[in-house]
Amino acid sequence: MSRLLLLHGPNLNLLGSREPELYGAQTLAEIENELRAEASRLGHELLCEQKNQEGLLIERIHRAKTEGVAYIIANLGAFTHTSIALRDAFLAVGIPFIEVHLSNVYAREAFRRRSYFSDIAAGVIVGLGPLGYRLALAAIHERLHKN
Ligand code: DQA
Repeated sequence: MSRLLLLHGPNLNLLGSREPELYGAQTLAEIENELRAEASRLGHELLCEQKNQEGLLIERIHRAKTEGVAYIIANLGAFTHTSIALRDAFLAVGIPFIEVHLSNVYAREAFRRRSYFSDIAAGVIVGLGPLGYRLALAAIHERLHKN
């Protein structure tokens, strides 16, 4: 049994009503509940957190270390493209993570093609909607079992 963290960044609390043509109709609570259930079926505990503020996200990543979180699934929203401080937080705690984006960031504005996380992530999943989180969880489960 491992403890995992699903971490969401700014504006993702508005999923369901926010640009549904890009991000889909599911609310964040629905996504979290489904993933928590799937994690528990696989024998893991999934903590879920969403923050709109960069500093709070940094503190959440720090706390994950003391809580013994083994893996993080992270969709940091627009901070993906801007935040060296969040990148440094992941490097500081050394917890492996998978970067997920609901939309295909490579098929959108040029500024979304740069991520401060992709090169230090264990994996990156983009453009598959909420399925991306389930695929990330399946990959984490397999990796944890092989260790
Ligand atoms: C996003 C893509 C980001 O560019 C955007 O700022 C978001 C959502 C996604 O899940 O597709 O807030 O991370």
